[in-house]
Amino acid sequence: METNAPKRRDNKKSLRVKVISLGNAEVGKSCIIKRYCEKRFVPKYLATIGIDYGVTKVQVRDREIKVNIFDMAGHPFFYEVRNEFYKDSQGVLLVYDVGLRESFDALDSWLAEMKQEMGSQANMDSIVFVVCANKVDLTKRRVVDEGEGRLWAESRGFHYFETSAQSGEGINEMFQAFFSSITDMCENGGKRPVSEVSVGFTKEQADTIRRIRNSKDSWDMLGVKPGATREEVNKAYRKLAVLLHPDKCVAPGSEDAFKAVVNARTSLLKNIK
Ligand code: GTP
Ligand code: MG
Repeated sequence: METNAPKRRDNKKSLRVKVISLGNAEVGKSCIIKRYCEKRFVPKYLATIGIDYGVTKVQVRDREIKVNIFDMAGHPFFYEVRNEFYKDSQGVLLVYDVGLRESFDALDSWLAEMKQEMGSQANMDSIVFVVCANKVDLTKRRVVDEGEGRLWAESRGFHYFETSAQSGEGINEMFQAFFSSITDMCENGGKRPVSEVSVGFTKEQADTIRRIRNSKDSWDMLGVKPGATREEVNKAYRKLAVLLHPDKCVAPGSEDAFKAVVNARTSLLKNIK
């Protein structure tokens, strides 16, 4: 029944936000957005040409959020079109394909491109980042595991979600967390809330674990030159052990990294006189 009573005015004002998607070509950026906005999946690859734009409305608590989505093309060819659209974003979806290591390794260069285009006034702390480890439905071809992806994301204060645009896994949860964090940030005067940034381990610990995982041999793992002395090996070992000891380091993968460092030291010392 309609009444003439005035509409409630205690609802907070609606928010208008801008989000962008970044990541290598073909990792699934457009499909993730399509899965959320249109509840469907398109198996055929239709490369985004330059940029796609869409608008959606979402409700976060008592606020209506109007989201402008700029879906970027990942292909390097479209750099000139993309670079115009980085500025004034409140949220970034950083997407990689869990079956393609180069798409994961490329996340750093996507951040670098963004920083460069945003110029000197860039304040990355006023932007909510969500990392999507996409195509988790293709389990057999997976090469980047959850620990590695989560470590990269959380050590930077970014959210991490495992997603599949194909099955829908993780998509709604990811967008809910994304929009809710953007709303929190706007209500917090444009700063990412501290609880999200503080993850209980340092970037140095996270970067070291990543370096250890990717090291090519025991020398490389300890960060010493081949042919280093016992003293040099022990010194490097002690530094890493303090940084990564499981009692002190809660970063995902620290226990494995610590064990790998212990094994590397043992095997090197066996062969050094
Ligand atoms: P560009 O626009 O070129 O930057 O690519 P994009 O990142 O937008 O990729 P897009 O969403 O167009 O998807 C690329 C291909 O991957 C398409 O063939 C999709 O069907 C497929 N794809 C996307 N997400 C998934 C997924 O979660 N699982 C599987 N199996 N395939 C996916
Ligand atoms: Mg696309």
